[in-house]
Amino acid sequence: MKKIQISPSILSADFSQLAYEIKRLEEGGADMIHVDVMDGHFVPNLTIGPPVIKALRKHCSLKFDVHLMISPVHKYIKDFSDAGADIITFHPEATENMKETISLIKSLDKKVGVSLNPDTEIKTISDYYDNIDLVLIMSVFPGFGGQKFIPEVLDKIKSLKEIKDKNNYNFDIEVDGGVNFSNSKDILNAGANILVSGTTIFKENRGDIKKNIETLRLV
Ligand code: DX5
Ligand code: ZN
Repeated sequence: MKKIQISPSILSADFSQLAYEIKRLEEGGADMIHVDVMDGHFVPNLTIGPPVIKALRKHCSLKFDVHLMISPVHKYIKDFSDAGADIITFHPEATENMKETISLIKSLDKKVGVSLNPDTEIKTISDYYDNIDLVLIMSVFPGFGGQKFIPEVLDKIKSLKEIKDKNNYNFDIEVDGGVNFSNSKDILNAGANILVSGTTIFKENRGDIKKNIETLRLV
């Protein structure tokens, strides 16, 4: 079984001191840094882009797990790669040609992630299991931190894990949205091996990041 990894989302960090916040995550035991990129078009919110990722890159040795909620996504992939993304995850709805976007990310020597919204079916990615490194299962509709976990997504995680085990695929299963101390065990038992969390990691226990990462990993 793959080791459980925690990918804290900086969406809940103090944006006025992102370098310091990332340092706190690194010291607190994060396995990677989840960067939520929103364009105000694919999702109804705006966040950050390549210049901020580039500026943060030199402050952190962890991998940047970049979640692109932008459309059209294809023409911006190289910018995010150049800025220092390590894993580049996109939504199938945001590209005209999934195969080409996957190939582009691979050609840049980055890990490829594909994200499934709560209402996007697993079969959307069934032709690509062999070519992707990660499936990011959304347990909220993307756009905002602090939303409530949608419990129906647990069955989807189980189904994907079954497909993965049956065929010996290698992709990671990452879950994003509303992950907290009460549901993390169910999410991991369902088959996820990477948990994204913003609110829980930055706000619980008065912002004790180390404790919150440890608790999420262990429960
Ligand atoms: C939602 C983002 C998530 C979210 C996680 O669009 O992709 O990464 O911010 O934050 P919490 O843990 O607060 O749900
Ligand atoms: Zn995300």
